Amino acid sequence: MITEQSIQHLLTVVPIDEVVGDYVSLRKSGSRYKAPCPFHNEKTPSFVVSPTLGIYKCFGCQKGGNAIQFLMDIDNLSFAESARILANRYGITLEETRSIEDQDNFKEKQLHRESIQAAVDFAADYFQQQLHDTEEGASIALPYFRERGFTLETIKKWQLGYNPEGWESFTTAALDKGYKSDFLLGAGLIKERDNGSYYDLFRNRVIFPIHSVIGKVIGFGGRKMGNADNAPKYVNSPETELYKKSEVLFGVFQAKNAIKKLDKVLLCEGYTDVITMHQNGVENAVASSGTALTPGQIKLVKRFTQNVTVIYDGDAAGIKASLRGIDLLLEEDLNVRVVLLPDGEDPDSYCQQLGGEGFSRFVDQSEKTFIVFKAELLLQETDGDPLRKSDAVKEILKSVALIKDGLKRSTLLQQLAGVCQMEEVILTSELAKLLRQEKIKESQQLLNNVSQSTKEVPAEIHIQEPLTDKEQEMGFFRLMLLHGNKPALESNSLFHFLKQKIQEDDFLEFHEPFAQLLIPYFLNTEDIPDAGFFLNHENEEIARWAAGELTASHELSEAFAANLIDVSTEETQYLEVAINLLLHFKRKKIDKLINSKLLELKNPDCDMEELLLYVEFLNEQKREIAAVLGMAVSNMWIN
Ligand code: UTP
Ligand code: MN
Repeated sequence: MITEQSIQHLLTVVPIDEVVGDYVSLRKSGSRYKAPCPFHNEKTPSFVVSPTLGIYKCFGCQKGGNAIQFLMDIDNLSFAESARILANRYGITLEETRSIEDQDNFKEKQLHRESIQAAVDFAADYFQQQLHDTEEGASIALPYFRERGFTLETIKKWQLGYNPEGWESFTTAALDKGYKSDFLLGAGLIKERDNGSYYDLFRNRVIFPIHSVIGKVIGFGGRKMGNADNAPKYVNSPETELYKKSEVLFGVFQAKNAIKKLDKVLLCEGYTDVITMHQNGVENAVASSGTALTPGQIKLVKRFTQNVTVIYDGDAAGIKASLRGIDLLLEEDLNVRVVLLPDGEDPDSYCQQLGGEGFSRFVDQSEKTFIVFKAELLLQETDGDPLRKSDAVKEILKSVALIKDGLKRSTLLQQLAGVCQMEEVILTSELAKLLRQEKIKESQQLLNNVSQSTKEVPAEIHIQEPLTDKEQEMGFFRLMLLHGNKPALESNSLFHFLKQKIQEDDFLEFHEPFAQLLIPYFLNTEDIPDAGFFLNHENEEIARWAAGELTASHELSEAFAANLIDVSTEETQYLEVAINLLLHFKRKKIDKLINSKLLELKNPDCDMEELLLYVEFLNEQKREIAAVLGMAVSNMWIN
C-alpha cells in the first residue's frame, strides 16, 4: 500500500489544474478555474477547480476531490493506479508499505486486468499470425483485404488479422499456450458450451483490432468475408473490463495527432471507412462502430478538438434516427458539421473513388452546419404544409437553443431565416421563448445545486469569511469611536454615514452581546460619540474596550490586519475600511437570505418564478460584492 505520507507529498506537488486541464478546457475565474462538468451534461459551468486547495468540485453532480480522485473518476482507475500515473508523470517516487493483505488485494485486481490484457494481446498476435503466416490466411483472408484496397502497410499498421474456419482454432491455441479459460472468457474471446467446453467468438472472419486511446488492443471486430450465409456481417467483442464500448472510438489512437493538428475530427460509422480514409491520408477519422454516439465518446473527442464533422452514408431514415445523438454534441458545445455522401456511397467507397485529396476537398466543400442541415432535412418533409412547417421550425430551434454561445446562435438564425424563408425576427422571438424556458429550468437546477451545496459543501472547500461575526460587529463601533468625527461622502461624518447605513439596511443586525450593549450609545443618539465619555464609562467592560481601541489601535485582531487594512493607513482610509466592513457584513446576510428563499421554494404553493428571479438577483449582488472585495466567495457555485 502506498504510504499516506507519500500520497500527501504527491498531492502537494501535482498541479490539479494541469491534471484536469488535460480532459476539460478550463477557464480562469479569479483564483479558480471553471468549466462545464466532464461528469454530467450541463450548459452553465458548475465545475470548479481550485489550484490553491488542490481540488475540483462539481456543484451540479456533486463529484469532487483531489487530483487522484479526478483520475479515478474520469478514467475509471483504482486509487493506486491513478496515484502511480501521477507519480510517474511528475517524477515522484511513491513509498509503499508491505501490508501483505493490501498488496494481495491490489495485486489480485491488477493481475486480473493484466491477465485479460495478456489474453487480448495474445489474440491480436495470433490473428495476425493466422493472416500472414498460414496458407489459409494467405489464400483467403489476405486477398480479401487486398481486394478491399488495403495495402500491406495498412494491414500491418492496423494490426489486421484473421481467425480461420472451424470452431476452436483460437481457443485451442490459447489454452495450449497456458492462457486460463477464465481470462479468455473475461476477454470475450471465447464462449462456453453447455457441456463446459469452449469455442471461438470469431470464426472464419477477418479481424479488426480496436485500440484504446493509448494504443493497447482492447477488443476486436470480426467481419465475415463472403455474403453467402446470413450470419451477421460483423461480430464484435463484448463489453469487458478493458473494452468499455461507450467510451471508445475506433481509430482514435491512430487519429489523435491528426485530430489535434487539424483541430477537427471526422466521425463516421465503420471500421473500413476509417482505415481507407487513413490510408488515403485523411488521418483525422474515427468511427463510432455502428452504435449511436455516446456521451463517453463525445468526452473522448473533446479532449482533442471542438470541431466535429459527421459523415453520413445511410438513407434519410437512418440520418433522422441519428439526429438525437448529434444534439448531444451540440449540448457539449462542440461545433458540429455534417456531410452527406451521394446515394450508395460510404466513406470507404467514396474515398477510394475520389482519392484522399479529392475526398477532403469534398468534405470541406459540402459540409454544412448541423442545424442548417437538420433544417433542410425537416423542411423537405413538410411539403409546404404550414402547420408541419411550424412544427419543423420549432424542432430546429430546439437544437439552436442547445448552443451556449450567443454569437453563434445569432449567426445561425440569420442562416436559418434564409433556409426556412421566414423573418429573422420571428425566429429570434421564438428562440427567446425557448431560451427563457431553458433558463428557468436551469435556475431550478442551480437552486438544487445550491441547496445541495449549502448542505453538503465539505469543510475543506468552504472558504471562510475572513472575519468572525464578532469582529465584524465590533468593527462598526470601533470605527465610530476612532473616526466618527471625520468626513464621509455625502454625510457630514463617518458616524452619521455608518449609522444611516446600519439603520436603513435590513441586513444589518447585531447579535454579539457586547455589541448590543453599545447600541444605545452609538445608534440611538444623534451625537458623535465622544472618546472621553467611553473612557470614563461606568460599565467597566465598555471603558476597557474604549481604552483598548483608543490607545492600541495597532493591536487590532489579526484578521483585520490580514484581510481588511494595513492598520497604519486606517487613519486616512477609514472610509474604505468602513465600506469594506459593510460589504462583508452584507454578503454574509445575503447568504442567509438565499438559504431562506431556498427553503421557501420547497413549498409547493410558492411562486417559483418570482423566487428564482429573486435568488438570481441575490446571487448577482453577492457576486458584485465579492468582486469589489476581491475575496473568495464561500459558495463556489457562484458564477
Ligand atoms: P456498415 O454496414 O456500414 O459496414 O456498418 P462497413 O463498415 O461499411 O463495412 P463494410 O465496408 O461492409 O465491410 C458500419 C459499422 O457498424 C458496425 C461495424 O462497426 C461497422 O463497421 N456493424 C455493422 C456491426 O457491428 N455489426 C454488423 O453486423 C454490421
Ligand atoms: Mn463499407
